[in-house]
This record gives sequence, structure tokens and C-alpha cells, in this order.
Amino acid sequence: MTRAAPAALLIGLSAPAMAQMAEPTTPPDPPPFAAQGEPNFVNRADIFEFRALDSYDQPEFMDAFVEAGMLPPVEERLPEEPMVYSADNMPDGAGAYGDVMRHVIGGRPEGWNYIAGQSQGWGGIDIGMYECLTRTGPLFMVNPEDLEPLPNLAKSWEWSDDGMQLTVNLVKGAKWSDGDPFDAEDVMFYWDHHVMDPEITPLNGANPETFGQGTTLEMVDDYTVRFTFTTERPEQVLYSMAYGTFCPGPSHILAPEHPANNPDNSYEDYRNAFPPDFLNFPVMGAWVPVEYRADDIVVLRRNPYYWKVDSEGNQLPYLNEMHYRLSTWADRDVQAVAGTGDFSNLEQAENYVESLRRAAEDDSPARLEFGPRIIGYSLYMNLSGNGWGEPDERAQAVRELNRDIDFRIAVSTALDRVRLGESLVKGPFTAQYPGGLYAGTSYYDKDSTVFYPHSIEAAKAHFEAAGLEDTDGDGFYNWPEGSPAGDGNVQITLLANTDYQTDRNLAEGVVAMMEEAGIKVSLNLMAGNDRDATRDSGRYDWRVERNTSELITVVQNTSELASTGPRTNPVHYANDAGELDLLPFEQELADTVTAFMETNDPEERAELMKQYQKLYTENLYGIGLTQYPGALIINKRFANIPSGAPIFMFNWAEDNIIRERVYVPEDQQADHELYPEALPGAPGSDGPVTAG
Ligand code: GLA
Ligand code: CA
Repeated sequence: MTRAAPAALLIGLSAPAMAQMAEPTTPPDPPPFAAQGEPNFVNRADIFEFRALDSYDQPEFMDAFVEAGMLPPVEERLPEEPMVYSADNMPDGAGAYGDVMRHVIGGRPEGWNYIAGQSQGWGGIDIGMYECLTRTGPLFMVNPEDLEPLPNLAKSWEWSDDGMQLTVNLVKGAKWSDGDPFDAEDVMFYWDHHVMDPEITPLNGANPETFGQGTTLEMVDDYTVRFTFTTERPEQVLYSMAYGTFCPGPSHILAPEHPANNPDNSYEDYRNAFPPDFLNFPVMGAWVPVEYRADDIVVLRRNPYYWKVDSEGNQLPYLNEMHYRLSTWADRDVQAVAGTGDFSNLEQAENYVESLRRAAEDDSPARLEFGPRIIGYSLYMNLSGNGWGEPDERAQAVRELNRDIDFRIAVSTALDRVRLGESLVKGPFTAQYPGGLYAGTSYYDKDSTVFYPHSIEAAKAHFEAAGLEDTDGDGFYNWPEGSPAGDGNVQITLLANTDYQTDRNLAEGVVAMMEEAGIKVSLNLMAGNDRDATRDSGRYDWRVERNTSELITVVQNTSELASTGPRTNPVHYANDAGELDLLPFEQELADTVTAFMETNDPEERAELMKQYQKLYTENLYGIGLTQYPGALIINKRFANIPSGAPIFMFNWAEDNIIRERVYVPEDQQADHELYPEALPGAPGSDGPVTAG
């Protein structure tokens, strides 16, 4: 009998005479699943340009604000050259003012200090509030030959002849939603006191590596900033100027609270200085938060200073109000198909069958369209061996196992990915996911992808090779001899996000499969915000997590593809002393990513990503679980929804559909506005105001 035999007996296998190590292959091809709806591909310049128009218009109710002297006339509120969306490029043409998009979300806002790392509860609140220097969401519809981030707050940019500098021209005369000018000061405050301040990690994790090692930024004048690089023409930085990593905050409100200016404030004080009930927080986005009721709703009203218009001169957005019901993500699906909510990214596979059934009915209020299979989950092990997250003896012993390739192969082969996928939804949706770049995306290469097929025999052989034995014969592996964790059974905790049923189900599936293989795992379930904080402080052994966009597009958040710096990928952050103890393969992975960021040669890039994929999947940097398609559900009354908008690609659908130009035709407008005729009040005041 081999020593792990009791574990095998749990699933009725007889013990093998000889260790059968894993036989890696290329991954099986995912079952065919055609995306519905094709984008109408265009060039970036077809979507909008910056130019002055002869005259501008605003919703009629706003005239009273101007007459009462509460607002300057619309032309004075707009920049010299606003962003002008071409009506010709809009799927349904120029729109009408009015109505609301009723979102439902499962997250909860921590507060509005986005650039100091606070979450607004996701589901598109932050995307609608904060604008970034460039924009990536709509790139799903941009011709591949013209693929480069869209201008946004950065209306244009120029590379120096030697490629070592990038001069960025900000939109001139744009204003925050309270009328304060937006300028280079806001940009520099973000850079100097957030990106470059090691005490702060802005949401989604902008850090110095995001912009390339050694990059600096300086102010040239009120509307110009300049990057200086240490490598030639790192075009990557245009993606780093987009959502998540370069969306400046209102320095006129934030700077006085920052510890650099206010010695009485700690970083924690600064982060929390603008709680959710601080209303009318100034934004550059289309909607401003005017009401917050805990566990109930966040209401946003149109930003009277929004700096985008349609080609007929109408100030955007068309929609007057945005609602975010504070509920659950599963409820978002239910409400969107029922018509009590307006929008959902159908992404929890457990809800697919019911949602599809309802959407197929003739009187369905919503349309539902599937995209490519790029929602994916992985099991990530904490690979720090030198103290990140201050592990106790047990946790340190787990880290040492995590760092052993035999242990990771054992875990990967112990997972039955077919069964995991089917536990979420039966049918052609899920595919076995080896980890790393997704099949079907542009940098994916099947021959560079290593897949460890499910085999309990192989799992046992590799657990043993990692030094594990079931010394007391209770069916579970014990700590290796001499382990500081003692001589009992190996005990691992698995961190997962309770905000999503899918995260929970997959985590439970992993626990069950590990138990069958002889490893005891217990769940550490937490709400999203707490889960994020726990992960980012390194207090976890393993975690199951939905993957982020760099594994789809590669060109964004590229530095996060590996541990390219002390805090770029939470598989492995540096310890308090700033030291990273990367395994040799992790170092190679990081070097590959850095090399990718430093070249613009397409062939070299493709080659580097093959290497990346090979290193990643062979060494199991992350252990892939399942991948499947998502569907956008949107109420039928909305116009200007671009076809083929994926729920997630360069960004989430909330950005991809360009909500500021989405509208409801007048004859279909519903009575959903909670604050008709109102506009945001002064920052920190009670709520919205009317002109009466
Ligand atoms: C959450 C949701 C996604 C999407 C994003 C937007 O993560 O699960 O579907 O709405 O928020 O940030
Ligand atoms: Ca045991």
C-alpha cells in the first residue's frame, strides 16, 4: 500500500503499486460556443473628436438653474473644445434627455476616496463617476489596425523623437462637477501622492511599475504633463493611463486631507475622509452621487459640467439619473430579466438557464446576448516564503508547500475541472481552464499551454514527491517530517468572496476535491471588500478568484501579469522590508513581462507571451479552474447599445456600452427618476437641489 491509500479509498480507487506522475498535455479544445452579435468595427476617430460647436444645448429643466444664477450657461460650463460624439457613429443616432438606468449591485461603497483605494461597490458606480486620461472600454469595437486607447481627459499626446518622453495634452477648460477647473494639478496630485506614495495603493492597484520602472511625470503647464521613461517608447503606458490606473481625483477637495498636507491625518484618516454619506462628491464623470442609504440605494444625478456633447451640441449624458440598488449580484440577474432592474452582466453561471428561459419569452423586458468565453476562475496559492502577511507556523508551512512544484501539480491534477464546471451549469458553457491566458484571446497559443489532466493517481504521486505522507492513516496527509506546524494533518484555508454564488460554489468544489485527494481545506469566506483587503495584506493560504482583464488583453495592467515589482500581483507581494523572494520561475515570469513592456515589436511580443504562458501553466503560477462566456442583459427600452458589446474585455460592459450616450426614446421613457428637475448640490451638502 502507498501511504496515501486511505485518501484513495474515499473515492473507491484501489491503491497503485507504482507512483504515476502527471502527464502534461496541451489543453482540450473548449466546446464550440458562438458569441452572439458582432461589433461594427470602426476607427477611433469615427467615434468622437474634440472640437468647438456653434452652440450647445442642455435638458430643458436646467434652464431654470441658469436663470436663477445657480449655474453658468451651458457654453461656459463646457471646455473650449468638448469631446463631441458623432451621431453618425451612434447605433441609434442622437438621443433624448430623460429616464434612469437602474443598476443592482452586490458590492457596498466604502466611500468616495477612490484614488486612496476605497471601493464604491463596483457594478459601474466608479466607472460612471471617475474619468481617466485614456479610455479602453469601447476598444472592443475598434479596428485592430487602429487599436490604441481612446483619448479622454488626455485629448492628445506626442512622443519625443527619441521615444523617451510622452507629452500629454489635457482637455482645456473642463471642470469638475462642482465647477472647479480640472487641470494638471489634479493629475500631479494623483501621481505624486498616490501612485508614487508607497503608503497608498489606488483601487485596482496603480503603482510605479504600472508605468514602467523609473518613469517620472512632471507638470509642463496647467494643461500639459510629461512622462519621462527609462526605455524607448513604452506604448503600454497609454493603457496604464486608462480605467483603474489613471483616473485623477478632485485635488481641490482631497489634497487638504492628505497626510502630506495635513499632519493630523493618518493615511487611514485620509482614505476614510469621504464616507458614502458625503454627498455631491466632485467627479469628472457623467453622474454625481446625491443620495446614499445604507444597504438600500445610491442615487446619482447628471453632472451639469460634463464635458462631452453629441454632434448636435447636446450636453451629455442623455440619462438624467443612475440608480444602484444595494442588493446582491444574483439579484442583479433576476431583476434585469424581470424588468425591475435595467442592466446585468450575466456572469454567475448558476443563473444562466433560468435567465435564458425568461429572456426567450416574447414579453421579456430585456435582451440577452452572449459574448466570448472569457470569464475565468483560478485557484491562487500564496507564494511568499519570507513573511508577507505575517504567517504563523501553520501558514508558513503551507507557504512552503505552495512553493513546491510537486505540491502545485498534485493540487492541479486532483481537480476534476469537468465536474467543477458542471457543478455551476450543465451544457456547452464551461470549459476546462488550465490557467494563464484564455483560449480565443489574441496572445493565446495552445502549444505553449501546459495542461495537467485530472488524475487522482498523479495527485498522490506528486503529494508524496512533495514529502507528504498520511502518517496516522486517517485518510489525510500529515505535515512533512520536522514541520514547524507539528505532525498533524495538513490544514489549509481557502479565501473566497461571498458576494458571488459562483465564487462560493467553486471554492466548495475545490474543498471537496481536495478532501477526496487527502488534503484538508477549510473555507474563509468574506464579503468582497474584506476579501480584497485580506488578500492584499497577504493573510491567506489559497484563494479562489475571478480573473482580471490582463489575462484577456495582456496590454492592460500588464505589470500585474507577474510580480514585476514589490506589489503588482497578489500571488506574491514583498514582505515589510520590501523583499521579494521569487522562485526562479517567478523571476523568469516577471522578466518576461518586463521585456514585453519594453518592446513594441509585435513578433517579439507574441514570442514573449508564448514564453509567459508556458512558464505560467507549466509551473502553475495560478491553477486554472473553469472558463465560460458571459451575457449582457439590458432592458429593451435603451437605445444606442453597441452590438457585440462584451460584458468584460478591456473593461466591463458598464464602460463598453458608453453609457453617457445611451438613451431612452421619449415614447418609451418610464417614470423612474427619484429627483426629477434636480441637480447635485455643493460638495458635502445634504443632497440634490432644485431651482425652485
Ligand atoms: C463587479 C461585477 C461585474 C461588473 C463590475 C464593474 O465586479 O461583478 O459584473 O459590474 O463590478 O466594476
Ligand atoms: Ca493523516
